[in-house]
Amino acid sequence: MTIDDLISGVLDSRIGKAVAAKAGLPEATVLRRGEAMPSGPIALGVVGLDVVEPDAGSLVPDALATLGIDVQPALIDTPDARTTDADGRQRPPAYPGRLGAIVVDATAANRIGQLEQVRAALRPAVKALEPSGRVLIVAADPASASDVETAAVRQALDGIMRSVGKELRFGATCNLIQVAAGTTPSELAQVVCFALSGRSAYVDGQPFVLTPLVERVETSEGLDKLDRLHDESLDRRSGRIVVVTGAARGIGAAIARRFAADGARAVVVDVPVAGQALAGVANEIHGTALQLDITASDAGARIARHVVERYGPDARIGALVHCAGILRDKLLVNLDEQRWGAVLEVNLAAQLRINDILLDPDQAGGVADGGRIVAIASTSGWAGNRGQTNYAASKAGVMGMVRALSAQLADRGIAVNGVAPGFIETDMTASIPVIDREIFRRSSSLLQGGRPVDVAEAIVFLADPATPMNGQVLRVCGQLIVGR
Ligand code: NAI
Repeated sequence: MTIDDLISGVLDSRIGKAVAAKAGLPEATVLRRGEAMPSGPIALGVVGLDVVEPDAGSLVPDALATLGIDVQPALIDTPDARTTDADGRQRPPAYPGRLGAIVVDATAANRIGQLEQVRAALRPAVKALEPSGRVLIVAADPASASDVETAAVRQALDGIMRSVGKELRFGATCNLIQVAAGTTPSELAQVVCFALSGRSAYVDGQPFVLTPLVERVETSEGLDKLDRLHDESLDRRSGRIVVVTGAARGIGAAIARRFAADGARAVVVDVPVAGQALAGVANEIHGTALQLDITASDAGARIARHVVERYGPDARIGALVHCAGILRDKLLVNLDEQRWGAVLEVNLAAQLRINDILLDPDQAGGVADGGRIVAIASTSGWAGNRGQTNYAASKAGVMGMVRALSAQLADRGIAVNGVAPGFIETDMTASIPVIDREIFRRSSSLLQGGRPVDVAEAIVFLADPATPMNGQVLRVCGQLIVGR
């Protein structure tokens, strides 16, 4: 038994739990994962109706209707609605039972005084939320505000969301959806569906910044049920050729499994020394394995050749996921050019070279028009991390690549996004000293590390052609204190 096993065994034991409780360490909650939606009712609060434009204000209710979700009006904490208890204390209005989620439609909010309406809608709801419940605030994009107060109010909603995320307990999360001009109800529904479902279990305290779809996806007229949205989404995602690098283990293997569960044909790529594990993943998901060091100068060409050889001369890649990555941590005073170069090569330079080849429109086996690219960054890329100058450089570089590439490829209908995981329980993070690991877990609002599947869910979501996001980096970190 290793010291790690011993410590986590102790923490998991009844004695350990008692000691942790005595030390004031709250317990982590098992998160609701997968397609499951909240079990309790969903409340809707609407902010800013006093100044709403005549044609505004129906986007959020229409999106919820698209999902077939019956909402109930949120209880509002006003002085009149309060009751006085036996001790003479004022109590906000209380829901009769547990609430599954509250959605606050703040798309029309443009005056500072209206932020009080957000507080008033959230106060009763936060108290009533079920375990793994959801708070969703829907707002407009601050960058497109026509006056300073509107911009300030829209940004203030971001601050509310992040603070509420830190206050929620028992696996409940709070996120913000910033709609773009022209976002349609079905586009918003796609994001709301992800954010309410267990697929977003480890996305907490984050803004989903929507952009116009690079290519509008046809959804059926009169689409009115979650099941149909789900089926249509599956149709779009199944049968696609999906390339995942670094897929022999950890997050990459989870991504390949998740795509395969949707019926995608997965090409799993990893270094030859990981060949056996890679073959295991490929067999398990009926995909194909390509043993390849992505830093090879011909890596892009070899991926393209593999796609053509295995799937036919007209085959194209529907989604490309850059997941392979390495750590070579050292304080800068001890960091030599080998450790520097290895990390920059695998985590960044190789991706750019592979993109150059696979994004050539004439490349057989390259990325299809309308395809998706998702790259894995890291919270270290936002915040920096002691001993990770090389790694943080590479991951911040990935974010720069995502932004620049997304602008270049929009005319081919290709969207490029990133995911920045926080602390995810994998072999890579198992190499971090055990005490540091426990600190990382407890530095998230959800008081635990994420699972590879949590990152995989976010990647499948961003790789869905119906997801109206482009050039964005979504954090999957349980609202880790590190970073933005
Ligand atoms: P891991 O070490 O378990 O898996 C990485 C995979 O990439 C391995 O199978 C490895 O053989 C492969 N790989 C490495 N160099 C390669 C190369 N030159 N060519 C082809 N394949 C190569 O790592 P994990 O934890 O699954 O991480 C996956 C990605 O997520 C990495 O990019 C990592 O930086 C990123 N990430 C992970 C976090 C975590 O907490 N685990 C946090 C933030 C980001």
